[in-house]
Amino acid sequence: MAPRGARNARFTFSKIGTAVGIGLFLGCVFTFFYPNGFLYSVRPLQPRSSLARGDDPSVCESTEKITMLKTEIASLTDENTKLNREITQLTSKLHQSERNSIAVGKLDKAGPFGTVKSMRTNPTLVPDESVNPRLANLLQEISVGKELIVVLANSNVRDMLVIFYENMKRLGIQNYLVVALDEHIETLCKSNGVPVYRRDRDEGIDSIGKHGGNHAVSGLKFRILREFLELGYAVLLSDVDIVYLQNPFHHLYRDSDVESMSDGYDNNTAYGYDHVLDDPSMGWARYAHTMRIWVYNSGFFYIRPTIPSIELLDRVADRLSKNDLWDQAVFNEELYYPSHPGYDGLYASKRTMDIYLFMNSKVLFKILRHTNEMKQIKPVIVHVNYHPEKLPRMKAIIEYYVNGKEDALKPFPDGSQ
Ligand SMILES: *[C@@H]1O[C@H](CO)[C@@H](O)[C@H](O)[C@H]1NC(C)=O
Repeated sequence: MAPRGARNARFTFSKIGTAVGIGLFLGCVFTFFYPNGFLYSVRPLQPRSSLARGDDPSVCESTEKITMLKTEIASLTDENTKLNREITQLTSKLHQSERNSIAVGKLDKAGPFGTVKSMRTNPTLVPDESVNPRLANLLQEISVGKELIVVLANSNVRDMLVIFYENMKRLGIQNYLVVALDEHIETLCKSNGVPVYRRDRDEGIDSIGKHGGNHAVSGLKFRILREFLELGYAVLLSDVDIVYLQNPFHHLYRDSDVESMSDGYDNNTAYGYDHVLDDPSMGWARYAHTMRIWVYNSGFFYIRPTIPSIELLDRVADRLSKNDLWDQAVFNEELYYPSHPGYDGLYASKRTMDIYLFMNSKVLFKILRHTNEMKQIKPVIVHVNYHPEKLPRMKAIIEYYVNGKEDALKPFPDGSQ
């Protein structure tokens, strides 16, 4: 750490030195060419504006001038707004064409040092409505900006689902869909004006949804998700044990194939760090450096409709169908393991969500609530993934953040007991 700090300090110091030098030099130049002062010499250039017209200002004239100035300011502001809008449009076009040209391999020169960026935002798929016309119609109706929240539910999670859709209604979120895995859930949603989709009965995977335990349903969700992506929609996949406190679509980057919440509980564990192991028998090389990152939570992630995203879903669903594995472990392995002998890694781009905006229940109950930052941090969602007594904790989180009951979280221990 010390050498790097010292280098930075020297660098800053030399920058300041250079700036002072340039300043002195310019000062000498101006003193030489403009002995009466720089401002004096440029003043004659000023009367370009309406302000300087007329030598004999009267009250009437200055009122007129003020009006003219105001008009000028208004039109400039207008122009500024227009320019801003144009800049935004041009920037987005530029990014799009950059993406496209990278996608077809048109960029052949690297460009200057520090300006080179590889592609993390892969091009979106061409939608194929024939995959599922009924779902295509439904999504066209309820999605906003070609994206939506999708939650799978069967009767086992009924009470949490009620909290979920009440949260959607409270926040005014329109673009969400419940994939009902049984008739009871379908009826419940319909009678409460909740957008619901039930798959056709002849599809074999539906028996998993009806009778399956947690892990079987998790496998099912990757297969269902594929259709949403094929139809050209980005999906924010959500478990039911999540409390929504703000609209998550206002807090996404949308630059990666997968943008996921983390099981990490601080910057290191969530965003990655160098975990050093000690093997003293190796002497000089006793320290082994390893890269660690806490897994992504496969119960809350945003996935864009791209080829790497579909490949990810297929790989996960395929492995889950063949072995009794934990879907979250498989999801992370497929995202992170590089190619190696006998294995081709998946090159999907990924982004870890902010752990204080997309918060897990370990961050909230074990750490944050015991700190002074608790009052300032306003999560977008809280996922009760670390605690088995989900329903009461979800209700308490709503009491605390929505209804302002300051001691609502107090009765709960940090971990489960
Ligand atoms: C964690 O990271 C965020 C942003 O990356 C930073 O603002 C914050 O200061 C970091 N917190 C700690 C404790 O290092």
